[in-house]
Amino acid sequence: MPEFTFRHFLYLCSMNGQAKVPSGFHGIVKWQSPSNIALVKYWGKKGVQLPQNPSISFTLSQCRTETSVTFEAAENFSLRFYFEGNENQAFAAKIEKFLLDHVADFPWLNQMSLNMESNNTFPHSSGIASSASSMSALVLCLLDIDRMLKGEAEIDLKKASCLARIASGSASRSVFPMMALWGKTDTLATSSDEYAVSLENQMNPIFKTYCDSILIVSDAAKLVSSRAGHSLMENNPYAAARYAQANRNIENLLAALRDGDLETFIEITESEAMQLHALMMCSTPSFILMKPNTLNIISEIRRFRETTQIPLCFTLDAGPNVHLLYPKQYADAVETFIDENLVRYCTDSKWIKDCVGNGPQKLMVMDAG
Ligand code: PMV
Repeated sequence: MPEFTFRHFLYLCSMNGQAKVPSGFHGIVKWQSPSNIALVKYWGKKGVQLPQNPSISFTLSQCRTETSVTFEAAENFSLRFYFEGNENQAFAAKIEKFLLDHVADFPWLNQMSLNMESNNTFPHSSGIASSASSMSALVLCLLDIDRMLKGEAEIDLKKASCLARIASGSASRSVFPMMALWGKTDTLATSSDEYAVSLENQMNPIFKTYCDSILIVSDAAKLVSSRAGHSLMENNPYAAARYAQANRNIENLLAALRDGDLETFIEITESEAMQLHALMMCSTPSFILMKPNTLNIISEIRRFRETTQIPLCFTLDAGPNVHLLYPKQYADAVETFIDENLVRYCTDSKWIKDCVGNGPQKLMVMDAG
């Protein structure tokens, strides 16, 4: 791989305050970034994509987006975007808007031609939201180009989280391995509404290998977009009580995560999932995001926990699919339970075997100047 050369610094040379990209500067960056599943949910926002309450998530391992960006110095900005091999102009327009809103962060944009290719490791029609993994992967690619031009050794993950947040709130948490918290809370001095922080060293070891089996009850597109869902919170009669409850849940969940207190973990995690759905049910207009089989699975999980004493619990995203969360030592027992009792509630018997993961990974960086 060609070494970074001093002339890349020329990029910083000022021409009426404009950064100058060295002519001939080109290369390719490729990052893989995971999805995440929230334990305490972000639902309701204010200002520039700032959360109404703090949230905590597990970073996943298997549900990832791989994005590569081929870049080349050019007279003007241009962008092409391919998703799973097909050019996608609607998505390109969204990314272009995001980028042009951030010219201050990427001052080289108007002198670069970008070609982006993105693929998900999870099936397209799995009902799994990919905005967290795709937006964090994209931001990491862009910051890698920026890093090369500046001659810096490392990407600033705080900045990556901040930019990913603006693209898609929950993406702010995908930048970190294992577990992350986004949103200001008195319980954690380093927390911020602007970016997520890693909780990796606040976790009891039992959570570092936690399993997440995702049961696909429906692979249909979302009934209500996240954007619309967040905005419904503005007139939700229970909004203030919800934000207060989320703050209490953060405090108690953080303690449980440190102590390995599975009973409290289960109580808060399941209550958060139910609250998210209850909030949607009492919004105007009202939405029911669960399906009958979501409730069948929840009942079976509670019965299984009661009879076996295995600490299996569930959470839900803003849709009907069910995430089964449990310590790795129970993987065989839970997988048998899924195969024997739960796949019947899944569309085409589909479920995804995932677990807590190590965060984004750089797959390739090649620059040539
Ligand atoms: O990041 P968004 O705008 O797609 O919102 C995500 C909202 C939930 O997935 C329901 C909860 C969360 O905290 O991830």
